[in-house]
Amino acid sequence: SLPKIVTIIEVGPRDGLQNEKNEVPTEVKLQFIEKLQLAGVEEMELTSFVSPKWIPQMKDAEEIVARTKKIGRQFVLTPNAKGVELAKKATASSFAVFVGVSDTFNQKNINKTTEESMHELRPIVEKLLTEGHFVRACISTSFYCPYEGAIAPAKTIELCRKFVSWGVQELSVADTIGMANPLECFMLFESLKKEFPNTLITAHFHDTRKMGLANILAALQAGVDRFDTSAGGLGGCPFAPGATGNVATEDVVNMLKQMSIDTNINLESLIQAVDIVAPYMSRPIDTGMYKLSKCK
Ligand code: HMG
Ligand code: MG
Repeated sequence: SLPKIVTIIEVGPRDGLQNEKNEVPTEVKLQFIEKLQLAGVEEMELTSFVSPKWIPQMKDAEEIVARTKKIGRQFVLTPNAKGVELAKKATASSFAVFVGVSDTFNQKNINKTTEESMHELRPIVEKLLTEGHFVRACISTSFYCPYEGAIAPAKTIELCRKFVSWGVQELSVADTIGMANPLECFMLFESLKKEFPNTLITAHFHDTRKMGLANILAALQAGVDRFDTSAGGLGGCPFAPGATGNVATEDVVNMLKQMSIDTNINLESLIQAVDIVAPYMSRPIDTGMYKLSKCK
C-alpha cells in the first residue's frame, strides 16, 4: 500500500536557482524561502557553500542561512571542509554532502574522482555526525550520467552503502539528467528500501523528459515517502548538460493531494512563492499547476 503521508524537501532555493543566469537579489531569495515555509515546507535546501567562481548564484549563502528561520530541517550543500566551516559559521545545522556515482561527472562537478571525493568526505561527515548534526548524502547520476551513459544499479547501491556505513541519516538518490523511467526507479528504490531500512531514503527527480511524476508514483510504490522537489520546476546542475529543472513541487503536491496523500503544504501559498521568483527567471514557469493558477 502507498504511504499516507509524504515529506517534501523543497530544493527550489538551491537546485532551483543555482543554474539561473540572472542574478536573483538576496532579498528576493529570502522572501521566496519565507513564503515556502509559510506554505508548510518543513525541510528545504536553502543554498550551497561552494566556490562562487563555479556557482556565482550561491555567493550569498552566508546571509541566506543567517537570515532564515530555523524551523524543521534547513539544509545547506557543502562539497568540502571549507564549505562546512563557512556553513557552521553561518549557524547551519543540517548538511547535504554530494557526490556522483560517475567519475566523469564528479570531475566536471567537483573537480575530483568519486574515490578522491569519498576519501575527502569521510572525516568531514563523521565529524559532523559526532557533533550531532543531521547529514544527508545526495547521490548524483544514480541512473544515468551525461558523460558515461547508463550507470549499473549495483554501483549506485555500493556508493550508498559507504555513506550508510559512515552513519548518514538520509540518502537522496538523484536522476540528475531526468533520464530514468518508472520501472528503473521502482527497482532501484525497492532495493534501497530493502537494504537500508534504518536510513531515510529520498528520491530526487529532474523532469527533463517529463517522467518526473510517473517516477514519483513508481518510487511511492517501492515505499519511498520523501521527495526532493522544486517550486516552479526550477533547477538543474550546470555541470549536467541538457538537464532541466526538478519535478515541480506544486505538481507533486497536487498529485498526492488528489490521491489523498498528505504533504502538509498549502497549494495556493506555494503558487504565491513561485510568483515571488518568477519575474527574475530567464525562462517562463512551465508547470501544470502554476499555469492553471493563471487561467482563473
Ligand atoms: P576546486 O577549484 O577544485 O577547489 O573546486 P580548490 O580547493 O582548489 O579551491 C579553489 C578556490 O575555491 C579557492 O579560492 C578556494 O578557497 C575556493 P581562490 O584561492 O581561488 O580564491 N573554495 C571555496 N569557496 C567557497 N566555498 C567552498 C570552497 N571550496 C573551495 N566550499 C569545488 C572544488 C568543490 C569547490 C568546486 O568544484 C565547486 O564549488 N563546485 C560546485 C559544485 C556544485 O555546486 N554543483 C551543483 C550542486 S550538485 C547538484 O546540483 C546535484 C544534486 O542536485 C543532485 C542531482 O540532481 O544529481 C545535488
Ligand atoms: Mg539536482
